[in-house]
Amino acid sequence: MLLLASLAAVVGAASAAVDVPSARSLAAPPFTYNRTHFLLHGAPYQIIGGQMDPQRIPRAYWRARLQKARAMGLNTVFPYVFWNMLEPTQGQWRNTGENDIAAFARIAQEEGLYIVLRPGPYVCGERDWGGFPAWLATVPGMLVRSSNGPFLDAAEAYVRRLARDLRPLAASRGGPVLMVQVENEYGSFGNDHNYTAAIRNMLHVNFDAVLYTNDGTEQWTLEGGSVPGVLAEIDGDPRPGFKALRQYITDPSQQGPLLDGEYYTYGPDIWGSGNAHTTSQGRAQVVRQFVEDVDYALGNESASISMYMVHGGTNFGWSNGALWQDKLTAWTTSYDYGSPIDESGRSTDLYHTLRSTLHKYVPQGSIPDIPPDIPRMQIPKFGLTPMALLFDTVGQRTTREAPATMETLGQAYGFTLYEHIAKSSVSGILRPGDRPRDRVLVYVDGLRQGVIDSQYQQPLAVNVQLNPGSKLQLLVENLGRVNYYSRGTVYRNDLQDPYKGIRGNVTVNGRVLKGWDMYPLPLDDISTLSLSPDLPSNGSIPILYRGYFVVDHPSLTVPAALDTFLAVPNGVKGNVWVNGFHLGRYWRVGPQQSLYLPGTVVKAARQLNEVTVLELAPHMVEGPMIAVGQSNRTWSNKPDEECLDCT
Ligand SMILES: *[C@@H]1O[C@H](CO)[C@@H](O)[C@H](O)[C@H]1NC(C)=O
Ligand SMILES: *[C@@H]1O[C@H](CO)[C@@H](O)[C@H](O)[C@H]1NC(C)=O
Ligand SMILES: *[C@@H]1O[C@H](CO)[C@@H](O)[C@H](O)[C@H]1NC(C)=O
Ligand SMILES: *[C@@H]1O[C@H](CO)[C@@H](O)[C@H](O)[C@H]1NC(C)=O
Ligand SMILES: *[C@@H]1O[C@H](CO)[C@@H](O)[C@H](O)[C@H]1NC(C)=O
Ligand SMILES: *[C@@H]1O[C@H](CO)[C@@H](O)[C@H](O)[C@H]1NC(C)=O
Repeated sequence: MLLLASLAAVVGAASAAVDVPSARSLAAPPFTYNRTHFLLHGAPYQIIGGQMDPQRIPRAYWRARLQKARAMGLNTVFPYVFWNMLEPTQGQWRNTGENDIAAFARIAQEEGLYIVLRPGPYVCGERDWGGFPAWLATVPGMLVRSSNGPFLDAAEAYVRRLARDLRPLAASRGGPVLMVQVENEYGSFGNDHNYTAAIRNMLHVNFDAVLYTNDGTEQWTLEGGSVPGVLAEIDGDPRPGFKALRQYITDPSQQGPLLDGEYYTYGPDIWGSGNAHTTSQGRAQVVRQFVEDVDYALGNESASISMYMVHGGTNFGWSNGALWQDKLTAWTTSYDYGSPIDESGRSTDLYHTLRSTLHKYVPQGSIPDIPPDIPRMQIPKFGLTPMALLFDTVGQRTTREAPATMETLGQAYGFTLYEHIAKSSVSGILRPGDRPRDRVLVYVDGLRQGVIDSQYQQPLAVNVQLNPGSKLQLLVENLGRVNYYSRGTVYRNDLQDPYKGIRGNVTVNGRVLKGWDMYPLPLDDISTLSLSPDLPSNGSIPILYRGYFVVDHPSLTVPAALDTFLAVPNGVKGNVWVNGFHLGRYWRVGPQQSLYLPGTVVKAARQLNEVTVLELAPHMVEGPMIAVGQSNRTWSNKPDEECLDCT
């Protein structure tokens, strides 16, 4: 009550434009807290949580993953909500399938788990643009994560619509939702307290739940991110974290029980020859540290914790984000994260270790038995037949004097093809706009000239020679919009510059090329492509291949037995779809060498399963194009054949 009263005062003072909380939301909730404890129905409650994002997990597997989390000893699950999947087009709400967050929360409740909801609107999460929908980039005057009218309007519409689905699931109404996070580690990014107050107010008005913030453990991150009337918490190492909370959070309206809202149980993988898979497997010292930290938080401090991630899942399709630090760091399709429950839902050694640790902090016999790991299948290798040149599948053309960005063309993800017919001769180094955004494959008259890859600080300098009538084609891949920027670094704030494709002029030897035909290639519905198997396949233009496999297995009620890891061993870089479902990107450089194929998209009982592969660098590596389903996963790195000397 003290908290809500002080919040009401702050809301009134900070922003007259926002409604004061309604009388109903002031009713005593069954979940609350005092200065030292979370209280569930009045009794002390220690949150033993883990992060799991429903939109990264096939819906049919939600229950199995939640059961695994419960059987590890968790009592609470922390899901991020990805706005861009819920509202892919402004005003169109898509809350079915993996986006049905309310259904996820209900299943969690059935499995004995509470929910701490992390709806953003910005979530970071190694997701494209931190979860923002790409259409925000086309709204005039947009400045994300700030007191900016267009941004707050869009954010409020999202929050209001999301709350329609989730407010009925608040603990105060008998549901599982205990708390809702305000923004996400905002203090790393900025210190506009008007902005965070506005987000607080919209969450407060729309959700019936305790609010909290979660920030890094520096003084400036805590001061920037904490919000009057909202419980302040930290992430990372709990020792400096809790110390910093005690030291820097001095406003009583922000003080309360301790929660480490993101205790990292390893980390996400990054594409690149030099980037190994992150895992604690075989690293005894790392695992000992995890156990010590969890013991410290739950035992010595009697604090609450959420392990990030308890189960990472998959960045299916185009959904991964990136970082910019004078070069692009792109997260892999796999979001295995080295987490206790691996990408395919298996209990790892870390799972068993942490489970024994958690046993000490919960009543004897309260942790369920561990559900068994479901067998994965193997698919013998099968051939892939070339069906079409990617450039022959383009649709809608836009013609302009200067290139337009992907967003301006109404496209969110995938590739955009830019074509220019030379009017005069010019030769020299090609510059694809202000900078490569992000990976630019260059062709002249159908022959590949090279790749300008922003993942390198020094990408290849691609020289071209154009004569009158020469056709220059630039295939530009969006490798993931930046999901994180910290004001503690000297780097550019790419959260405010999310544009993909080409921005600015294309020049050759400093001369501006005018006159462009542009073709979006979002590849979001490959069933519309007309493919036929009579293609000469010796060129360097990206090729769409197709192959089929059957599973000699009776039809199943438990599709998990059809899980596998699909590999394209002689592929260099590209994408894979199975029965139209976009698994995501593959790339020979690793560390990911196979794509998680959930059994949920596989057809059993000798039906045909259709595999479509887009290979961006055909014939660069020796050997036939084949695919294979592996029951055991291997991680490894290989040289980047397309950019051998790039650094
Ligand atoms: C918070 O509530 C718990 C449980 O009732 C109690 O033990 C504790 O003393 C309370 N703390 C404060 C500061 O009131
Ligand atoms: C916050 O709002 C107040 C009152 O409207 C205004 O005076 C102040 O300049 C704003 N601060 C920022 C950082 O926008
Ligand atoms: C944590 O508690 C354990 C067991 O009571 C004790 O041995 C240890 O010294 C404590 N660690 C810290 C950092 O306080
Ligand atoms: C692109 O080139 C045109 C023509 O030279 C010039 O007017 C325009 O300012 C350039 N645009 C940018 C973004 O540099
Ligand atoms: C591909 O093969 C055809 C037929 O053998 C040949 O005419 C063509 O020049 C080749 N194309 C390339 C790019 O090598
Ligand atoms: C997969 O790994 C398991 C456990 O390490 C092992 O028992 C099994 O033989 C492996 N299977 C294959 C096909 O390599």
